[in-house]
Amino acid sequence: MASLQALLLATALLNIASSAPAEQFADATTASRTGSALTRPTDFNPVPIAASPSGAGEPVLNSFVSFSIELAFFPDFAGDKENPNTFSDNLLNNLGSFQGSKPNIRVGGNTQDYALYDANLKAATNGTIIPSISKDYPRILSIGPKFFESYQTWPGVKFIHGFNLAKNDTAANASATDEAAIACKFLELHDNFLYWEMGNEPDLFKTSAQGVMRPASWNEQQYTQQWNIRVQLVKDSLSKNCGADWVTAQNFKWLAPSFAGTSNSLDAVKTWKAGLDQRNEIELFSSHNYIGGATQPGVTLAGFLMNHTKTVSSVSNHNKEQAALKAAGMNMPYILGEANSLYNQGAPALSNSFGAALWGVDFNLMCAATDIRQVYMHMGTNFRYASWQPVATNTTSIGTKAPYYGNIAVAASLGDITQGDVRVQNIPLKNYNEAAYTIYEGEKLKRLVVINMHQYNYSVPVPLPRGETTYNFTLPTSCSGHGLVQRLIANGSDAITGITFNGASYNYELDHGKPKLLGNVTKDETVWVGQDGGIAVGVPWSSAALVQLEC
Ligand SMILES: *[C@@H]1O[C@H](CO)[C@@H](O)[C@H](O)[C@H]1NC(C)=O
Ligand SMILES: *[C@@H]1O[C@H](CO)[C@@H](O)[C@H](O)[C@H]1NC(C)=O
Ligand SMILES: *[C@@H]1O[C@H](CO)[C@@H](O)[C@H](O)[C@H]1NC(C)=O
Ligand SMILES: *[C@@H]1O[C@H](CO)[C@@H](O)[C@H](O)[C@H]1NC(C)=O
Ligand SMILES: *[C@@H]1O[C@H](CO)[C@@H](O)[C@H](O)[C@H]1NC(C)=O
Ligand SMILES: *[C@@H]1O[C@H](CO)[C@@H](O)[C@H](O)[C@H]1NC(C)=O
Ligand SMILES: *[C@@H]1O[C@H](CO)[C@@H](O)[C@H](O)[C@H]1NC(C)=O
Ligand SMILES: *[C@@H]1O[C@H](CO)[C@@H](O)[C@H](O)[C@H]1NC(C)=O
Ligand SMILES: *[C@@H]1O[C@H](CO)[C@@H](O)[C@H](O)[C@H]1NC(C)=O
Repeated sequence: MASLQALLLATALLNIASSAPAEQFADATTASRTGSALTRPTDFNPVPIAASPSGAGEPVLNSFVSFSIELAFFPDFAGDKENPNTFSDNLLNNLGSFQGSKPNIRVGGNTQDYALYDANLKAATNGTIIPSISKDYPRILSIGPKFFESYQTWPGVKFIHGFNLAKNDTAANASATDEAAIACKFLELHDNFLYWEMGNEPDLFKTSAQGVMRPASWNEQQYTQQWNIRVQLVKDSLSKNCGADWVTAQNFKWLAPSFAGTSNSLDAVKTWKAGLDQRNEIELFSSHNYIGGATQPGVTLAGFLMNHTKTVSSVSNHNKEQAALKAAGMNMPYILGEANSLYNQGAPALSNSFGAALWGVDFNLMCAATDIRQVYMHMGTNFRYASWQPVATNTTSIGTKAPYYGNIAVAASLGDITQGDVRVQNIPLKNYNEAAYTIYEGEKLKRLVVINMHQYNYSVPVPLPRGETTYNFTLPTSCSGHGLVQRLIANGSDAITGITFNGASYNYELDHGKPKLLGNVTKDETVWVGQDGGIAVGVPWSSAALVQLEC
């Protein structure tokens, strides 16, 4: 219904502002037909949109929408040779068809720094959960040769394998050597191998609630030195067991330093200056981000996740860090190698809700608009903020979860990144709970995204009527004609199911994660762009609209 209103309104406005073929006015009201001059209502208040990407972020990297998978759970997500997880693969293919290449997968996280290699282990993993440390993942973990089979179940996906740096003993040394030797049997250069990573969030090694791994005196110099020593072990093993190709300057590439944030106990700039990349082996500068914590007091959807001001402020810490690194001579792409809504695996009813999916769209596009060139959304089996649950467990049903729909909307907004430079620009709006972005391909304006984060609850005894805001813009006049509106929508921000993007569901129950068009949700709605470039896009509370433009 909202969409019909939007169409009527947009049609009415066009009728006033431009001359279009008569049949396009079939739905227009009589009142709107009386307009003749090229004027807009005085309350139109359009936000101007630039024809070229002058204030946009740097071009995003291919596979901007990528995932970080908690190492202990990678076999659940990917399956193995006999039982590849095709549901996961379908979900990755959907994203690939929007953004031009499947997501990259980083296999890492906290359990990366617990994992030790056991050549005799028959299963992929042997994990022991210590509930007093975390109920969500094993604190003791060994991985066997079978673990590496999971690198071969998703055609066309490139992987980052994470090694243990936190453990500082002979067993950890041996693991680095042994994992490198076996990884290259399952990963192939120029195919499914992307980069390596040494250690997860070393800036928390001195303070981690899951176990302190370094003395309080440990500093950036020591970290850098230990990183380089352990990396050399991997290099020696690759050279010996995998062949000289694996250790050429072109192929021996790392993601680092993978700090948890911008203000913990190691400083990124000091680390850089201490010679982290002294051997030119790092390809991407990776940091991590969570907008808040799962059990942090006061964390809500409205005001916290569905708050553009909050998201901008969280992203800006990375913008400042990147600027400081640049000033210190760091010129490689800055990315978020791990990110999600609320650390400690997310909060139920928040991180798995449609509101969090809207947050994800805002967060990812804000990153893209501020030179953060790729984002790996983190997940693990049973994690509350996961984009999908890859297997059924006794706590969580297998299925596509709300945040995945946010991933889809981001990928659709960016379009095929492999075809040229894709850049995103933030368009400031008035209120804290709304956000807009434009997407450029090369110099050309291609798409407009509006996110209306006004909270709308529907899981209540008597839902209130759902409001809608009409967002008005002045596009370059070259865009006049029509655009197509593709909506990310659900019954409300508290919905955890029933979510669609442009009329399609990606739910497991329907077609194992392949897109399934639902007849009861609109798809590709027409919106008119006047000869003055004016466009009005109606966006119901707690939903987002992607407008495909013809400029
Ligand atoms: C968009 O234009 C309509 C019609 O003029 C107006 O009612 C509405 O308030 C405008 N939207 C905004 C956000 O200013
Ligand atoms: C799995 O790990 C536990 C705890 O470390 C250990 O007691 C057990 O023997 C291991 N199982 C196998 C099959 O290696
Ligand atoms: C860790 O390993 C490094 C290099 O092997 C060593 O110098 C250091 O003393 C060890 N221990 C700690 C706590 O850093
Ligand atoms: C780990 O390997 C490094 C590099 O060979 C060596 O310097 C260090 O002493 C080893 N650490 C232990 C605890 O064996
Ligand atoms: C939105 O976030 C900003 C920044 O954290 C905060 O100052 C503001 O109070 C939040 N808005 C609401 C309505 O909670
Ligand atoms: C749920 O599964 C875990 C791991 O398989 C098991 O340890 C636990 O006992 C199960 N809990 C229930 C309530 O069945
Ligand atoms: C929506 O639900 C949340 C969580 O129950 C509640 O805090 C909030 O006040 C509700 N909002 C409205 C507008 O009713
Ligand atoms: C969404 O709302 C519609 C209309 O009220 C209802 O039929 C449908 O069951 C709701 N979907 C979910 C997932 O609750
Ligand atoms: C649309 O149809 C699907 C599948 O039949 C149903 O589950 C869903 O509740 C419907 N949605 C609405 C908003 O009516």
